[in-house]
Amino acid sequence: MTRVMIVEDAEAAGEAAAELIQAALATRPEPVLGIATGSTPLTSWAALARRRLELGRVRAFALDEYLGLAPGHPQSYRAVVDREIVRPLGLDPERVQTPDAADPVHGPARYEEAIAAAGGIDLQLLGIGRNGHIGFNEPGSSLASATRVALLSEETRRDNARFFGSLDEVPTRCITQGIGTIRRARRLLLLAFGEHKATVVAAAVEGAVSASVPASAIQLHPDATVIVDEAAASGLVYSAYYRASWLETA
Ligand code: PGA
Repeated sequence: MTRVMIVEDAEAAGEAAAELIQAALATRPEPVLGIATGSTPLTSWAALARRRLELGRVRAFALDEYLGLAPGHPQSYRAVVDREIVRPLGLDPERVQTPDAADPVHGPARYEEAIAAAGGIDLQLLGIGRNGHIGFNEPGSSLASATRVALLSEETRRDNARFFGSLDEVPTRCITQGIGTIRRARRLLLLAFGEHKATVVAAAVEGAVSASVPASAIQLHPDATVIVDEAAASGLVYSAYYRASWLETA
């Protein structure tokens, strides 16, 4: 089953996530981390950085990248990843990949090959969009999809406009790992905070597995953990059971 951990706030979630990430990275000499951008993972990166681990051998793959931004654009996910993850954690930038926005034709297949060549992803960190997306797999995406070029939904573009000067500046297309790609990671760790995520968290964890809620694909994964704060957990029907289960297995 999906393990659900309900914590007080994003800070506590970051600490718990850092613990799980550290454990996953200890399983192989050259471990592979699946990284996510967005505001949700920031407390996890901060908690991980505070641990001052030697992470120079870690390989990492980002979930997605915008198409159509000028190279080096500060909101390109390559730039965000370098700024918010690579530098604070002391990762080797040469070992960190983002989908190649310069080659939307061959880049997606090459990205799949690079993940496979690295031995697959040991732990994939995930945020969740208010519409249920993981990566940029918008509602309607196949639960078996591969890395590909995809269109951003209007809702996602509006949500991400806060990082750009205006809605018009938000790209309309991206390259994203597919849901099939994400499901091949050995472990999934999905984080969500805040009241505005409560409905979609309940749909993803307790609703029907459906392309209409791409994050519901985590229910098909044998090793998926969801860490939510009390507000994001407020729509869950079985929260008492999750709390008891977590204590049982911790
Ligand atoms: P957020 O985005 O972390 O900024 O809320 C999550 C997502 O869109 O996947």
